[in-house]
Amino acid sequence: MNELIVTSFEISHIKDALDLLSEYYQNEKEKVSILPVFSDYEKLITTGLTALAFNGLGIAIHESGSLQGFMAGYLVEELFGKEKGVFVPAFGHAASYSKRSEIEQMLYTEAAKRWVSKEIFTHSIAIFAHDENLQNTLFHLGFGNRCVDAIRQIQPQTLDASSVTFEEITADNASIVVSLHEQHHQHYRNSPIFMPNQDEDALTDLLDWISIDENRMFCVKYNEVVAGYIRYQRVGESLFSIHSKMRNITGLYVKPEFRHLKLGQKLLQYIESLLEKDQFKWIGVDYESINLNAYYFWTKYFTPYTYSLVRRIDERIAKINLKLD
Ligand SMILES: CC(C)(COP(=O)(O)OP(=O)(O)OC[C@H]1O[C@@H](n2cnc3c(N)ncnc32)[C@H](O)[C@@H]1OP(=O)(O)O)[C@@H](O)C(=O)NCCC(=O)NCCS
Repeated sequence: MNELIVTSFEISHIKDALDLLSEYYQNEKEKVSILPVFSDYEKLITTGLTALAFNGLGIAIHESGSLQGFMAGYLVEELFGKEKGVFVPAFGHAASYSKRSEIEQMLYTEAAKRWVSKEIFTHSIAIFAHDENLQNTLFHLGFGNRCVDAIRQIQPQTLDASSVTFEEITADNASIVVSLHEQHHQHYRNSPIFMPNQDEDALTDLLDWISIDENRMFCVKYNEVVAGYIRYQRVGESLFSIHSKMRNITGLYVKPEFRHLKLGQKLLQYIESLLEKDQFKWIGVDYESINLNAYYFWTKYFTPYTYSLVRRIDERIAKINLKLD
């Protein structure tokens, strides 16, 4: 390698950044062939990278004038705790593919130096799920998994609807799922998830959500009793969930006393049959890998394509006279 030069990530780097990224995506698509083609996302990624080029948190590495890698993320005021964090989305970093382990190490080291000097202590980096090389590199840098984006190709469904009926939830009947929605919210506070979500009024939250155009929610009744619900919307959390032929599940809950009766599977099959009729091609979902119900349930039907990894720096480093070399 010739001398490597580190600069801030800038708008002028975006075209070359897209080329590096396209190779990452192409390699993931070789493992997850159902993923949409990269060109479907180029415009969105360009917009996303343009925003990231302005916040001063991104860096780029060049060799003899050619971009070797970049890493850029969003500032989050409180990320998985009270400390400031940076979230680098899967489209927010890439490096020359054959040297990616080495270059991403350098990128992170340089970026983390800047972040920690700004007292940004929680670092999250999303990677493509089948890039074991990068996963291993980040694991050794202290990162662990937290969130997963996964995808499923919509297929015709033969629904076994014995003992069950489905009903769409609207503003008129939302009250029938209020207690389930409240329980679902509480679920995330339990071990091993420990998400300190704020108390909320379940009915208000439901009504707000239902009022959004294209959001749809259905409940399942088991022997006439409301036992679970599923909901989907146009866009999930990942940029790759934004596609005109994709809808994204953002909630699935079955009451504990009705679990393991395949109601979760039936809710999924039910919405899949509706989406198939409406000629959608994919369903996306994102979930916490630390939520074991979600982890085991979704991986039966969906293929992960990104993992969002997290590293928490010991904030006491700020109190030590840090000599940044
Ligand atoms: C995920 C959930 C909806 C599944 O509902 P369900 O009606 O029991 O689903 P099904 O009966 O169709 O499938 C259950 C399967 O999921 C898998 N599974 C779910 N939780 C699991 C766990 N903790 N460990 C291992 N496997 C698990 C198993 O393969 C299980 O099959 P089994 O019944 O043969 O053991 C339910 O567990 C739930 O509401 N969890 C809390 C909320 C949540 O985490 N939702 C998903 C995130 S949005």
